[in-house]
Amino acid sequence: MSAEGWGEPGGEGVGEGLSVRRATPEDLDAIMEVERAAHAHPWQRESFEREFTLEWSRIWVATEGERVVGFLAYWRVLDELHILDVAVHPDAQRRGIARGMLEMLIALGHAHEVVSVLLEVRVSNKAAIALYKRLGFERMGRRKRYYEDGEDAWVMCAELG
Ligand SMILES: CC(C)(COP(=O)(O)OP(=O)(O)OC[C@H]1O[C@@H](n2cnc3c(N)ncnc32)[C@H](O)[C@@H]1OP(=O)(O)O)[C@@H](O)C(=O)NCCC(=O)NCCS
Repeated sequence: MSAEGWGEPGGEGVGEGLSVRRATPEDLDAIMEVERAAHAHPWQRESFEREFTLEWSRIWVATEGERVVGFLAYWRVLDELHILDVAVHPDAQRRGIARGMLEMLIALGHAHEVVSVLLEVRVSNKAAIALYKRLGFERMGRRKRYYEDGEDAWVMCAELG
């Protein structure tokens, strides 16, 4: 994978009035608002703070006007991208925002010789699994008791190479 450019969104919108940009620490409050509204098991603020300090980590936000309506967090690991979290505020769901951000990430992966995009998802998370399948992700395996509350995760992968 080329060293530069893997962490910047394409700059195009993901729908009418929506755009995607790289997040900054100033977006933390808005990211936490989406995270808490969207997830039954939200990440702690400190976890997002840490992501901003990691050279291999990126967070993108989808905005509608000034408002952050969704985000995508991922790592670059050698020639792979690992999705950590994707969330869209409940009042902005089913408008193609998550799909748009993930399509942007996959296009960026193709442009930067990424071999595969990987993620873990709760086995009960039907919405996210449907979203990932629609984008070409396939289930690779099951991690037992992956989450703190004991739930298993599917490992899903989209091969780009
Ligand atoms: C999963 C999530 C990110 C999807 O965001 P979204 O912007 O609403 O998704 P999109 O509008 O881009 O949906 C794209 C496709 O995914 C599938 N999908 C999305 N949400 C779905 C749902 N609730 N039920 C079934 N399929 C769903 C559909 O195929 C959908 O296409 P369609 O609307 O044309 O039918 C959102 O529901 C969310 O934030 N959930 C809570 C956080 C979470 O679980 N994140 C995943 C962590 S691994």
